[in-house]
Order: sequence, then structure tokens, then C-alpha cells
Amino acid sequence: MHLSHCVWVRFPVIGADVTNMDDLKNLFEKSLEHFGGKIDFILHSIGMSLNVRKGKHYTEMNYEWNQKTLDISSISLHKVLRTAWDMDALNEWASVVALTYIAAQRVFPDYNEMADAKALLESITRMFGYYYGVKKKVRVNTISQSPTKTTAGSGVKGFEGFVTYADKMSPLGNASGEDCANYCVVMFSDLTKYVTMQNLFHDGGFSFTGVTQAVMEKMQNP
Ligand SMILES: NC(=O)c1ccc[n+]([C@@H]2O[C@H](COP(=O)([O-])OP(=O)(O)OC[C@H]3O[C@@H](n4cnc5c(N)ncnc54)[C@H](O)[C@@H]3O)[C@@H](O)[C@H]2O)c1
Repeated sequence: MHLSHCVWVRFPVIGADVTNMDDLKNLFEKSLEHFGGKIDFILHSIGMSLNVRKGKHYTEMNYEWNQKTLDISSISLHKVLRTAWDMDALNEWASVVALTYIAAQRVFPDYNEMADAKALLESITRMFGYYYGVKKKVRVNTISQSPTKTTAGSGVKGFEGFVTYADKMSPLGNASGEDCANYCVVMFSDLTKYVTMQNLFHDGGFSFTGVTQAVMEKMQNP
């Protein structure tokens, strides 16, 4: 993009450990102050697996690390929504999106405990989405993104093969990070007002593809 096309927006960066309720309260207080009113949308884009980081196999899971993984990657969404709820920080029809992965529905062995974490994240999305919808017409959804090369993504064992396989198994190919951001913007807009409690696949068709010609050819000529 040419620099003359850039619109510079000044916004503060407010640090918060998403497992800490005091940090979250401070984050919402400062945000409300900054915006001079309530909030229209929130993106939960947080994940961390201690067992993956420390190389623990799923069958030999360290349960203390697992508790921390679930707290950071899943229950944090409940904590964010709960803080917003208690402070009445969201406008009517506000939109909350959390990022997830299809390992919540299907087994991808090296995704390890994050598969369980994403299943819980998607459940919290539905449950809190119900209560927040009834209370204030706030909607809550997850976007299930293609594998994408980021810090967290690259932590998954054999990630390169994983990305290539998903790409070959998707009629449209893997969705990029930028396209994921575009989809989030769509979900934050008023054009999707009646979408809530959903897990929305943003994966180039991967989730509903049984096999592709490209994968068949690879299997015939390995
Ligand atoms: N990369 C992929 O292939 C992929 C695919 C589908 C979904 N996702 C999801 O997208 C989201 C973003 O991940 P990413 O791939 O951009 O990786 P990332 O490592 O860049 O992002 C993870 C973020 O979580 C933050 N974080 C970790 N612990 C925290 C804590 N206690 N408090 C506050 N923040 C904390 C980190 O600072 C980091 O910004 C995650 O939920 C991830 O599971 C990623």
C-alpha cells in the first residue's frame, strides 16, 4: 500500500494477562475511557500450550501445565466476557470473535492438548453467547482458521507438512492471516447481526472436503 493511502489511527496499547481478572478490569476501564463510551467489538486471539512448548506427549500430559493451558486459551474467553458483563462494557449488538482450529472437531495428533482447549473455547462461545444474546443482543462466535504461519502456529510439530497438506485438501487453498482479519471485520459489522453462537470455518473449504485430486495424485505417486 502506498503511504499516502495510510490512515494513521492513534490507539493505546494496554497490557493484560488474560488469566488475571484485575488486569482485565483495568483493560476494560482504560478502553472505555479511551473510547469515551462502550465497546462494539472484541477479538480474542490468544492461545498457549505449556505441554506443547515443553514437548510433552498428549498421553503423558502434565496436568498442572494443562490447567494453565486451558486457563490461557479457553477460560480466558469466559473471563473477558464476564468482565465485560459485570462492567456493562459492551454496546447492544456488540460482536465478540475468538479464533479457533478444526482440531476441536477432528483429530490432528500433534495439536496435542490444544484440541481440548479449542473444544472448550467453542463451548464457552455457545454458552456465554446464549446468555449475552438474551441479556443485551451481544453475539459471540468463533472463526476456525486454516493453519497459518505465526508464533503459535509454528509451535505445532511438523507444521510445514501440516500447512501443505491443508492447502492441498482445500479447494480454495489455505486462507491467509490477512483474509482471516478481513473475515473478523465482517463479523464485527452490522451486516452479520443475527449470527451468534457459531463456529465459522474460514479454511478454503477444508472442513467439508473428503479428498482432493491433488491429494489422490500424491497417494498414487508417493
Ligand atoms: N496460527 C495458526 O495456524 C492458527 C490457526 C487457527 C487458529 N489460531 C488461533 O489464533 C489465535 C492467535 O494465535 P497466533 O497463531 O496469531 O499465534 P501468536 O503466538 O502470535 O498469538 C498468541 C497470542 O497469545 C498471547 N498470550 C499468550 N498468553 C497470554 C496471556 N496469559 N495473556 C494475554 N495474552 C497472552 C501472546 O502474547 C500472543 O500474542 C490463537 O487462538 C490460535 O490458537 C491459529
